[in-house]
Amino acid sequence: MAIDDDHPDLRSAHVIVVANEKGGTGKSTLSIHLTIALLKAGYRVASIDLDTRQRTLTRFLENRQSWASAGGRDIEMPFHHALDRATTADVIENETREFAGFADAITQIEHDYEFVVVDTPASDSYLMRLAHSLADTLVSPMNDSYIDIDVFSRVHHDRARRGMIAHYADLVLDARRKRRQADAGLIDWVLVRNRIASLQSNNARQIAISLGKLAPELLFRTAEGLHDRVIFRELFPIGLTALDPIEAATKTGVLTGSQLAARQEIMSLIETLRLPERVPGMAHLEARHLWFERLSAYYADLAAGRDMQG
Ligand SMILES: Nc1ncnc2c1ncn2[C@@H]1O[C@H](COP(=O)(O)OP(=O)(O)O)[C@@H](O)[C@H]1O
Ligand SMILES: [Mg+2]
Repeated sequence: MAIDDDHPDLRSAHVIVVANEKGGTGKSTLSIHLTIALLKAGYRVASIDLDTRQRTLTRFLENRQSWASAGGRDIEMPFHHALDRATTADVIENETREFAGFADAITQIEHDYEFVVVDTPASDSYLMRLAHSLADTLVSPMNDSYIDIDVFSRVHHDRARRGMIAHYADLVLDARRKRRQADAGLIDWVLVRNRIASLQSNNARQIAISLGKLAPELLFRTAEGLHDRVIFRELFPIGLTALDPIEAATKTGVLTGSQLAARQEIMSLIETLRLPERVPGMAHLEARHLWFERLSAYYADLAAGRDMQG
């Protein structure tokens, strides 16, 4: 097998798209924490906000900048681009403009940054489809609920029955096909459980079983994400995360157990995402190629298991 024929034409930036057709699952929360965690790990990070309505990631970064400026502090910031909302009377014209804005943003940053984190709205549009097909890692946060699984595969009253592939999963599978044709690349699709309850419940176990059955069919991985914690939402007004030096901002000057656990959760999430990791002396693009080889082998095995089961 000629490696070069199979090898994708990788951009130097690794694009992480955080998306799920369902709203309120934690897309912006994960985008925020991934961006800050990668910056803290020393990577050159750019972020793009495609949610022209809510602009959560943009608002967070504005808050972060003003918190730092007000206190005369230095703080890590990504190179950020917020997409402008096109508001002509013509829907097609709007889509074309927004599409061009996004394509421009990617072209501007693809050579200068190692990671690009893209936060997205919960909608289906041409722009969203394009964003999916540009993803190297697609992170879809979901809560432990059958309602959240239903956007991937229609859930039946008889849960053992195989559901039809639902609209959102179809969009991802389509993006994958396009991607394979465009540059032989792959999309590593990771379903990240978010707002996990602190007590293990029967419901959570059932959800994990259902996802396990679905994974070989839709070719995704699952990751244990973040628990439901106040710390993941309360720092938004000052633009900080659990990873920042928040000790100074607390009354006691020390972190609580839950805050320490939150830091740990973000770090383990980064680990389970298995992003291209640069070791000393290694160029980022080299790390990207290693990433590609590891993940291709993983998905080939997953697909082979599925085909054997028929
Ligand atoms: N792990 C978490 N712990 C606590 N609150 C969370 C967590 N993840 C998300 N939230 C909260 O849930 C709501 C929806 O999250 P958000 O990130 O805005 O979702 P989306 O961008 O998908 O619409 C927000 O109020 C957010 O603060
Ligand atoms: Mg959002």
